[in-house]
Amino acid sequence: MSTDKTHPSFAPSFKIFHEVPALRQYRKTLTTTQRTVGLVPTMGALHDGHLSLVRQAATENTDVFISIYVNPTQFGVSEDLSTYPKTWESDMKLLEIVDRELASTSGCGRISAIFAPSTGTMYPTLPPTSEVDGKGSFVTITPVGEVLEGKTRPVFFRGVATVCMKLFNIVTPERVYFGQKDVQQTVIIKRMVKDFHIDTDVRIGETKREEDGLAMSSRNVYLGSRRRAVATVLSQALFAAQEQYLSHKKTSRGDILWIANDIINEAVAKQEELPSEQRARFEVDYISLADPESLEEVDEVEPSRGAVLSGAIKMLPLEDPVDGEDTGLGGGIGSVRLIDNIVLREQAV
Ligand code: PAJ
Repeated sequence: MSTDKTHPSFAPSFKIFHEVPALRQYRKTLTTTQRTVGLVPTMGALHDGHLSLVRQAATENTDVFISIYVNPTQFGVSEDLSTYPKTWESDMKLLEIVDRELASTSGCGRISAIFAPSTGTMYPTLPPTSEVDGKGSFVTITPVGEVLEGKTRPVFFRGVATVCMKLFNIVTPERVYFGQKDVQQTVIIKRMVKDFHIDTDVRIGETKREEDGLAMSSRNVYLGSRRRAVATVLSQALFAAQEQYLSHKKTSRGDILWIANDIINEAVAKQEELPSEQRARFEVDYISLADPESLEEVDEVEPSRGAVLSGAIKMLPLEDPVDGEDTGLGGGIGSVRLIDNIVLREQAV
């Protein structure tokens, strides 16, 4: 048992590491006793989506490591790095609850270590940059990192691949766990592991959703009730498009995507018509139908290969909040970008 000096009120049963050498030392003792490590990289602000990855990792490994680090290099210069939610105390409480649950499940691993490094530890040579042409030691995975999310967020996947490479090198996990929710991230990590011969197995966990279909995300806390109610449009649009493929056996781009675009356009128009103190306006970044490996847009879904249906919308800042309205963390001042996706699975032909 170790107590965390920065958070003295909390005494977890798992170990908390802030430095690399101590974590490495601990990891070595696990290797020599034939234990296996599953790593779940996170940026904290944990929710059920993260916890489902922890549970999955515990079914497949004796020891689950969770990293909690808000990685600056994956945020663009004008993005929400400084306001990204930081909820250390409640994250630790959630992990303790999950760990207790795991302890009472037979044949299951346990949460073993939390890695919460500082930026000085993660970027030991040069301070991290978010500039597109900034200098430093980076991992870039192209062209797959340049489409979809990468188009709007040009440094994003460079930052993700770089920090994950560091984490994989530090922890040397047998398995790493990523959520389907961030499908492009999963494609990039798989590509990185393959191309750099990293000795780990990439495991993907399904997207956890709220009851009304909204994909869980640490950023949902910014929405507030008005934007939260409208935000379900993205998953509704994607599920309707999936239906075209699954139930109506449609395979062409137009036949699958028209309904998603229809639902979105209708919702955009509806919000525009409402008075400013009632509406939640949003913009569409993309609705995509892409190849599952290259993420290049496809005109036709090859049933033997499947495809990825994905979308991104930007909920615009809240207009004219009314007295007592739940405006969300940050008071509704900033935009909130939401992403979601559904995999159109391969089908027997
Ligand atoms: P973060 O957004 O904290 O997410 C950590 C992991 O949880 C990612 O693999 C993400 O896909 C997964 N996740 C998030 N929401 C989910 C949901 N609703 N259902 C299932 N899984 C979900 O993704 C990152 O952090 C960072 O980019 C990181 C990989 C940690 C690198 O900094």
